[in-house]
Amino acid sequence: MECNPINFENIYNSFKIHYHQINLINNALKKGKAMKPFNVCIVGGGSTYTLGFLKSFVRLKEEFPLKKLVLFDIDKDRQEPIGKYGEILFKERFPELDFSYTLDIKEAYEGMDFVFMQMRAGGLEMRAKDEHIPLSMGMIGQETCGPGGMAYGLRSCVDMIKAVHDIRTYAPDAWILNYSNPAAIVAEALRREFPDDKRILNICDQPENVVRSCSRLLGCKWEDLDPVYFGLNHYGWFTHMYDIHTGEDLLPKIREMIAEHGFLPQDAEQRDQSWLDTYGMVQTIMSDFPDYLPNTYDQYYLYPEYKASHLNPDFTRADEVMAGREKRVFTECAEVIKEEKLGDRFHAISDAHAEMMIKVAEAIAYNRNDRHILIVENKGAIANIQDDAMVEVVCELGINGPRPMRIGNIPQFYLGLLVNQVSCEKLIVDAYFEKSYQKALEAFTLNRLVNDAKKARKVLDALIEVNKGMWPELS
Ligand code: NAD
Ligand code: G6P
Ligand code: MN
Repeated sequence: MECNPINFENIYNSFKIHYHQINLINNALKKGKAMKPFNVCIVGGGSTYTLGFLKSFVRLKEEFPLKKLVLFDIDKDRQEPIGKYGEILFKERFPELDFSYTLDIKEAYEGMDFVFMQMRAGGLEMRAKDEHIPLSMGMIGQETCGPGGMAYGLRSCVDMIKAVHDIRTYAPDAWILNYSNPAAIVAEALRREFPDDKRILNICDQPENVVRSCSRLLGCKWEDLDPVYFGLNHYGWFTHMYDIHTGEDLLPKIREMIAEHGFLPQDAEQRDQSWLDTYGMVQTIMSDFPDYLPNTYDQYYLYPEYKASHLNPDFTRADEVMAGREKRVFTECAEVIKEEKLGDRFHAISDAHAEMMIKVAEAIAYNRNDRHILIVENKGAIANIQDDAMVEVVCELGINGPRPMRIGNIPQFYLGLLVNQVSCEKLIVDAYFEKSYQKALEAFTLNRLVNDAKKARKVLDALIEVNKGMWPELS
């Protein structure tokens, strides 16, 4: 397989760029005006991902031009250093940008074209509880899967629904690009609360991260891979991985290479050990279930006992993030604020997460109908799953939103796993809307990471205790 034929590819790419630019100019001329730069707000301005966005908005300023950028957060102390970093960065590299940070919803949302949502309801402190409490009872503690994920889900239902109402008060037509977790539960809750709102999109970067990892393995560019994927958020499989140039399905070759060499994230050199372990599990999953290439999160559902016994209840991923990524981000801010310049820090690693989210916005803004793997209402995309499930599939994305690609029927094994999980996600959202303890107990009991009513009640009761004031009161 020749994944990277230099001459053709260069010609093709420059043709693509020119074709795209000509199209943009034509469209602008037709409308009798030049292309308008965008107003963007980031909700969760104090997130560890914001620096990556600030740098990426500079790097991509030609293809996704900004007029105004506002950071919004509810935590002044978290957002301020990142805001100050932004002021220094943009003064150096994007002085024409109208940049600010605020705690005020009107200032944040008024006049926005796009709102990127990356809030963490309850913060990393509550993430630690979501992980530690189930693990102390022998169940997996994880950000988005199992009891911890459902606990975070109930907090996010409360905070995300409020935030989307706030956004709609001041920016009725803005595109809301949500990746706040747990994205599966948030997507289901927003679908129910805002059934007629066609400008809310839920996205996760993990499917694209897996595609990028395949490109590392194959030695090609990830953009040259054309995946077919089905599942739920953090619970899916790639059925094909086509070479965009030749049409060859590279999945059999990827399977062989993973069996031989294992699997690494594209940016392995920047990852903590727990992420390397997670990618490593793909080899085990594919040796047990060789049909498809799994999303890395499938490990929790397929090996709940093994994973629970190999996670450290005294130092979970939340602790690792607080000691690692969070510390790095705020140290970088403190240094830049002290030195009043970015220096070489601007050229440090590019940010795949931010770049992907900006490409999603571009697909909409320029009606490009690019392919992205998105979380959408099923409506027949996976034929044997209920229409109102929020599923994750390849979509064409343009100005009128996502158009999902049909998968057809999925085999019984995968159907069984996914119907179980769709039911958990729906029940936990029922628990939120009905303030129902019973529905929460059913969701916890059904979940493959719990799977026992007595264990479910025990962990649910412990999580209710620590989530007082952040969950609806369940009765
Ligand atoms: P973080 O705790 O570092 O940052 C989250 C920020 O959100 C904090 O500054 C916090 O004060 C703020 N916040 C909390 N509640 C808020 C509210 N109601 N309104 C506005 N701001 C609020 O977390 P992080 O690790 O940087 O992750 C941020 C979010 O992005 C998390 O939900 C994470 O799961 C999600 N994420 C999702 C994907 C994906 O693929 N779906 C990828 C990366 C991150
Ligand atoms: C992946 C997932 C996200 C998750 C992120 C960070 O990108 O798709 O949903 O939030 O990893 O996880 P971490 O454990 O590093 O905070
Ligand atoms: Mn995700």
